[in-house]
Amino acid sequence: FTSTALTGRRIMLTAGPTWEAIDPVRGITNHSSGMMGYALAQAAAEAGAQVTLISGPTSLTKPERVTSVDVVSACDMHNAVMERIAEQDIFIGVAAVADYRPVDSADQKIKKNADEMTITMVKNPDILADVANLEHAPFCVGFAAETHDVVDYARGKLERKKLDLIAANHVGGSETGFGVPDNAISLISRDRVLDLPKQSKHALARRLIIEIADSYQKKNEK
Ligand code: C5P
Repeated sequence: FTSTALTGRRIMLTAGPTWEAIDPVRGITNHSSGMMGYALAQAAAEAGAQVTLISGPTSLTKPERVTSVDVVSACDMHNAVMERIAEQDIFIGVAAVADYRPVDSADQKIKKNADEMTITMVKNPDILADVANLEHAPFCVGFAAETHDVVDYARGKLERKKLDLIAANHVGGSETGFGVPDNAISLISRDRVLDLPKQSKHALARRLIIEIADSYQKKNEK
């Protein structure tokens, strides 16, 4: 499984959740396992690309022949991406980045004295949108997890974030999406929708990498 379009190309991916600290022992995160992002990183490396994986906290083993950078918060992930993005040909945002973070993180563990507590949150940077808006933006691929009207919402995101492709994840059922080995995806570009049926995340990752390579090559030929 190699792709001539990807031989020697540099691909950066984000994967996993982010962790937004409240204090040294507590934080806000989500159920992303990182499986889809890691499977894509592995498939891209197998296809002959030079891969950089920027990963939030996960329990997964790093794929072979992939340069990886571990991060914790969305801001850390944003910095790690921006430091290295200039050399990249393709950027794939798979991470489930927290939309908000606590405005401050306490230096010491917060004690449970008060009956109520309020955490004020501020918006995190949108890593994918920032990459897609760069003057010399790489080919940009996003992921969108939706429970309903999957294709419509994803297409809105493709346009708003100025992406080349978006992979829309059907997370409505319990058999696909977060934390499970299978996934079903619709891959959407400005002019088509390709439905990839339920299959293992590894099989899906290979298929997606082939499609991404193909679209990347077509865009460069224009
Ligand atoms: O807007 P939404 O979070 O649904 O968009 C999902 C896509 O945007 C994913 O590709 C995700 O990795 C990326 N994203 C990001 N930074 C954020 C939020 C989302 O890179 N702060």
